[in-house]
Amino acid sequence: MTHAVKGRVMKQIKAGLIGFGTIGAGVVKVFQHNGPVIADRLGAQLELVKIADLDITTERGVSVAPGQLTTDVEEILANPEIDIVIELIGGYEPARTFVLKAIANGKHVVTANKALLAVHGEEIFAAASKQGVDVYFEAAVAGGIPIISSIKENLCANQFSSVLGILNGTCNYILTRMTQAGDDFADVLKAAQDLGYAEADPTFDVEGIDAAHKLAILLSICFGTRVNFADISTEGIGNISSLDIQFAEQFGYKIKLLAIGKRDGDSIEARVHPTMIPLYHPLADVEGVFNAVRLVGDFVGPSMQIGYGAGMEATASAVMGDVMAIARNMQLGGKGVRTPAMAYCADKVSQLAIKPMAEIVTQYYLRFAANDQPGVLAQISTILGNHHISIASMIQPERQVGGAVPIVVLTHEAMEDHIVKALAEIDKLAVIKEQSRFIRIESELE
Ligand code: HSE
Repeated sequence: MTHAVKGRVMKQIKAGLIGFGTIGAGVVKVFQHNGPVIADRLGAQLELVKIADLDITTERGVSVAPGQLTTDVEEILANPEIDIVIELIGGYEPARTFVLKAIANGKHVVTANKALLAVHGEEIFAAASKQGVDVYFEAAVAGGIPIISSIKENLCANQFSSVLGILNGTCNYILTRMTQAGDDFADVLKAAQDLGYAEADPTFDVEGIDAAHKLAILLSICFGTRVNFADISTEGIGNISSLDIQFAEQFGYKIKLLAIGKRDGDSIEARVHPTMIPLYHPLADVEGVFNAVRLVGDFVGPSMQIGYGAGMEATASAVMGDVMAIARNMQLGGKGVRTPAMAYCADKVSQLAIKPMAEIVTQYYLRFAANDQPGVLAQISTILGNHHISIASMIQPERQVGGAVPIVVLTHEAMEDHIVKALAEIDKLAVIKEQSRFIRIESELE
């Protein structure tokens, strides 16, 4: 269909939005604020014809035309006028059903739904490939950072050896406030929710699940592999204490929730956990709701991008970039898919095994709570030595914590299996007063 704009005849491309929450309202805002510049850049007129949500009465701070809102998703999915369906309801179902139905009806899809793609991506991409429609998902990973298109387009001549970063804005916001202001975990989480950063279920954020969903997507497109989401080792920030944050700083580190993906021959590392990173590394300066993704490609070398990882505007910007990319593809004529959804041709996607955590080799921060008496250090260091763990550095401040003194050890590189077994043995010592803690250190950052 064509449409006259500023004296020109422009092609008209129609979109429907499913999910009128925070990001959905942001998408409406972008349409309204930047409609003219979008049209100038596209050479086509984008129109948001319908918005479906179960709740169409709550005030979202954006005005919509009469008749634009509906509670009936079929007005989008079965609407022959709509070319692109934007899915922003999140979660596995009914998002999966809606997306598959949109694809079956020949519509291109834009989604911000990392949970859906991490778990049902293969089914969705196969359906889209069969139908010859695009599924774009830039907003699913790291909000405003264009990392998906960087991997799939700009850096696609590289073989990647690692992809890691700060992928959850809520956790980064909480850790930043705990580090800078010593704020309490629960209060900061509440503030993040009020700012619209957190998932509908914030345990997805604080337990690292949201970051693991995003890591699954990055691993798939960096390494051309299917990822069984359940195999990604996931730990949240719930056990990080202000004591650990202070000790980390004394040793020259900051604690961040990192999502780490590395290629190691025919296997990959895939893990999300609190990680100590050197204070001098630029990742340590990524604070608040900002995310960062660091890639290493064989030709580009290390490359890092920083941007807002959550929030209405940055995520809506990513969604609209995808809508425009699809609109451009459509203008090339036909429904052909220009870039494979998983960055590799479907018949070239492999299944790399995820390395068990017991086999990970890295440096560790260990914290023990022990009686302050002769021979304690000797007992601890003997057990560490017996498990092939070499001590790089150690402090034992005089202060008492719950009747015990903290003993903090930084190790040289060690295998996680050895660390876990050594700590289990140390925790059985009569002089140890509470369960010992460990935090992994990522020091191999250029
Ligand atoms: N809850 C997510 C975060 C939002 O905090 O990063 C975007 O995925």
